[in-house]
Amino acid sequence: MFTQAAAIIRDAEAFVITAGAGMGVDSGLPDFRGDQGFWNAYPAYARLGLSFAECANPQHFASDPRFGWGFYGHRTNLYRATVPHAGFHIIRRWIEHNGADYFVVTSNVDGQFQKAGYAEEHICEVHGSIHYLQCQTACNGRIWPNNASIEIDGAGMRAISPLPHCPECGKVTRPNILMFGDWNWLAERTRAQEERFERFLSDNKERRIAVIEIGAGSAIPTIRATSERIGWDLEHATVIRINPREAEIRPPHLAMPCGALEGLQKTQEALARIENH
Ligand SMILES: NC(=O)c1ccc[n+]([C@@H]2O[C@H](COP(=O)([O-])OP(=O)(O)OC[C@H]3O[C@@H](n4cnc5c(N)ncnc54)[C@H](O)[C@@H]3O)[C@@H](O)[C@H]2O)c1
Ligand SMILES: [Zn+2]
Repeated sequence: MFTQAAAIIRDAEAFVITAGAGMGVDSGLPDFRGDQGFWNAYPAYARLGLSFAECANPQHFASDPRFGWGFYGHRTNLYRATVPHAGFHIIRRWIEHNGADYFVVTSNVDGQFQKAGYAEEHICEVHGSIHYLQCQTACNGRIWPNNASIEIDGAGMRAISPLPHCPECGKVTRPNILMFGDWNWLAERTRAQEERFERFLSDNKERRIAVIEIGAGSAIPTIRATSERIGWDLEHATVIRINPREAEIRPPHLAMPCGALEGLQKTQEALARIENH
């Protein structure tokens, strides 16, 4: 399996990295697999009996902004403090070694690919980014970088420092992330990224593309659907699906049932072996 993956990497002329929450697990970040997974990561919400979908609701920024920012402020601090694991760099070196074009498509809002040195204009964040803000009413249509520092009371998951406000209307801002039941999310930043991605695909459609999918869950299947669309629509594209629990995919695509870091490191070792032959 690792040797097969290594051959796909060796021959790749372009790379698409599709990543879900599982990509961050080996950097120490939680994934949210179902209510239980979410409550293991956030025991405070288990005590309140609130699911991920209930916490990730834009309504809180209007009705109880300190609660809304409790969840997103905690995650902002966590993602700012996180160091991307070695797997991010392994893929970046494959891209550089092959002199290949690439694109990252992720449902993660954590900015870890940028942190690991991937270029902003080669990343598509389909659900937005926690590192950008917008007005909760989208009053001015603007999206701007999140430079706010937000202190959280961990026990109650409430923000205790001053909250960032919209310069236009004075209401409390919110992250530029697509939440549940969200009518005010400003999609412009993501739309521009999607346009760049579609251009990348049309430029590279004749090339041998390695699609490396990592840690994408099946509950919200956006990322898995993206990998499969490329894998089945483009003749020279092959998907490598890395996931310890739900790696299944039909051949010629490759299922790799293990964690991100392990899968990438073992593929790197196999690549070193076949390149020496
Ligand atoms: N870091 C983040 O930005 C973050 C974190 C959690 C959830 N979310 C949001 O939650 C939603 C659901 O996302 P999802 O489907 O990606 O997450 P999910 O939590 O539903 O699924 C995570 C997947 O990762 C796999 N996984 C677990 N450990 C792994 C490891 N070590 N290596 C590789 N894979 C591993 C799991 O088997 C699962 O399939 C998305 O909208 C996403 O934006 C974002
Ligand atoms: Zn406003």
